[in-house]
Amino acid sequence: MNDADSPLGAIVGARAYSADEQSLLLLDQAHAWHPYTQHQGMALPLPIARADGAWLYESNGRPVLDAISSWWVTTHGHCRPEIAAAIAEQARTLDHVMFAGFTHEPAAELAAALVSRLPRGLARVFFSDNGSTAVEVAIKMSLQAFANRGTPRRLIAALDHAYHGDTFGAMAASGRGVFTTPFESLFFEVARLPDPSEGDTLAALDALIDARGTELAAVIVEPLLLGAGGMRVWDERSLQGIRTRTRAADVHLIADEVLTGFGRTGPMWACDRADVAPDLMCLSKGLTGGFLPLGATAATERIFDAFLGERTKTFFHGHSYTANPIACAAARAALTLHDDESDDARVMLEVAQAHHLEALRGHPGVRATRQLGTVAAVELEGTSGYLSEVGRALSAFALQEGVLLRPLGNVVYVLPPYCIGTDALAQAHDVIARFLDGERADHDGAGDVD
Ligand SMILES: Cc1ncc(COP(=O)(O)O)c(C=O)c1O
Repeated sequence: MNDADSPLGAIVGARAYSADEQSLLLLDQAHAWHPYTQHQGMALPLPIARADGAWLYESNGRPVLDAISSWWVTTHGHCRPEIAAAIAEQARTLDHVMFAGFTHEPAAELAAALVSRLPRGLARVFFSDNGSTAVEVAIKMSLQAFANRGTPRRLIAALDHAYHGDTFGAMAASGRGVFTTPFESLFFEVARLPDPSEGDTLAALDALIDARGTELAAVIVEPLLLGAGGMRVWDERSLQGIRTRTRAADVHLIADEVLTGFGRTGPMWACDRADVAPDLMCLSKGLTGGFLPLGATAATERIFDAFLGERTKTFFHGHSYTANPIACAAARAALTLHDDESDDARVMLEVAQAHHLEALRGHPGVRATRQLGTVAAVELEGTSGYLSEVGRALSAFALQEGVLLRPLGNVVYVLPPYCIGTDALAQAHDVIARFLDGERADHDGAGDVD
């Protein structure tokens, strides 16, 4: 039902909306401000009423395949009853208590459960709210650990094309682009190292340590997979080389596993693929299985020790919701699911992704394909970069076909919940292939695809 006389009539376009959907959209359009969204001329957001497994359902019942785990958070599938039950139970028992001066079972047990699975040496867990705050905490811990020891250092090194979040410290560490341009004059100094997939990171790090090693507090990396920078896969040898060099120079290695953690790249952590143990590790996204926002920064006992002593050495950082019991209960339930079931599903997903990429590889619209574990990416011909129009066109086409894809510029990726079935995965790749076939036809007849 789409009443042309309704106040929404001017903006609803072709899709038919029920009266309830229209009220929702009216409220949204009048009051909500969406992330990464140019509101002028924006398409209406899709009203989603419920979700199950790998599927989202529009309020009119139409299923939409969540091929990107809703920004990479949903690991075991949407609305997993085990996680929902843990949340409900915790909400009835202890909703929240501040975490300074108090503790509770969900947080203490989660910290212990994480430590038992983390790379060797990571022994302390600091909770925060999301991936960006997990990164902020790691950077601040590194800088303050040096300051507390009486040997202050202030330089951070990070990779080109990195993405570590949208808060100021995380932005400073991220690669430069449209996300960061308005703020760059305010960033602290970050030394940039080439992305190992396109440059000699280790030589650059050697040169940096030679020139400024005693100023360098930490090197931060997204281990083996630069996610938002275009799903760029890099090699284990470089990660090992960064670890060797940082350890020798007494520089912290911060592994931002916000995307790569919880099995995305195969093993529990991308660092495990290279048998690398960082000094600090940032977690979020899959931590609660995709149910609730929660961040965690894991640190070695040595870093923790640097904060012991006078009160001025305290880590003066916290959030109102630090270690929220309900979020911690969700994370515990998600970890249990991890232990119980997802290995086979992940291995099957990895194999199936390789098979689908193989089929796309020779397509004339495809420049390159990449895979790491359960993550498959296809770099399309056309203009590179986040603002590339080809990605937007593909995203719109896919949504019309009932598949949620959100390319990073000209890089489309499939990063689904682990429970996605064979047919649904094939559907996601088929949409990409059909788009490319159409694109080629357009391209052959009408010039540039962008
Ligand atoms: C590697 C990495 N670090 C940090 C973040 C920031 O996480 P959040 O969006 O939860 O702040 C992201 C988000 O995509 C990420 O991919």
